[in-house]
Amino acid sequence: MFRQKIEKSTKKAKSNIILALDLPPDEPRRLLSRSLQILNSAHPYLCALKLNRQAVLPLGLFDGVQKILSRAHNLGLPTIMDAKINDIGNTNRAIAEYYYKAGFDAVICNPFVGWDEGMQPIFEVAHRMKRGVILLVYMSHKGAAEGYGQIVQDSTTKQLVPQYKIFVQRALKWNADGAVVGATYPDKIREIHALLKDKVPIYSPGIGAQGGDAEAAVNAGAQYLIVGRTIVEAKNPVKTADQIRNTAWQSLKAKNGKI
Ligand code: XMP
Repeated sequence: MFRQKIEKSTKKAKSNIILALDLPPDEPRRLLSRSLQILNSAHPYLCALKLNRQAVLPLGLFDGVQKILSRAHNLGLPTIMDAKINDIGNTNRAIAEYYYKAGFDAVICNPFVGWDEGMQPIFEVAHRMKRGVILLVYMSHKGAAEGYGQIVQDSTTKQLVPQYKIFVQRALKWNADGAVVGATYPDKIREIHALLKDKVPIYSPGIGAQGGDAEAAVNAGAQYLIVGRTIVEAKNPVKTADQIRNTAWQSLKAKNGKI
């Protein structure tokens, strides 16, 4: 369901840009009105909206956040909660259920906790509520190699492999709706895309503010680009969103042919 929703909005808007609506800390009322203002004006250039705890903490999940989600849905945009859920199964289930009940169409989770009494309850809730689960595979920040790139022993094969390759296998085995790979590491996107083979789309954050390049990320195999500060903090967020959308869409068209 989630995959179909985001594919549909991508085709409609001719955009694979997901807006990370992360505003600098401010008073909740101003945060809400600025969020709605950006959403209202930039939505034609977006395929989805992503929020994280930077928004949930000041605005409240069943308060300001729900107002943003309902506006996004009215504008035809699916919504993603970048929660990086990472606890024991019982807690994970409750967290995912709250986010889905508030209206999020998908949540981002950390596969590090494993399946049994870890990720399994989240997938169960997602299937029941017809929502999506996106897994972290290789993050966008500088220290990503310390965790996602560390060499570990695969508990099944006993071979030494980088952590992210185990996460790739989990994304495939669990039939995740997406895999997050930082745009700051196009070589990793290329390598991971070759392993995922279009079975799990790549969501790529880190464009602009973190140094990632939209064209390079798409050419390496990213399907969706997550963009925050470069749009949100631009002098003209609408124009910036349109420019990034154009670059990314042309690259996607050149790579995939007709979309
Ligand atoms: P900027 O301002 O850097 O914002 O464009 C990026 C947004 O994406 C989030 N982020 C990540 N989320 N895996 C994720 O699931 C990542 O590797 C990652 N890197 C950045 C960040 O919290 C912000 O909302």
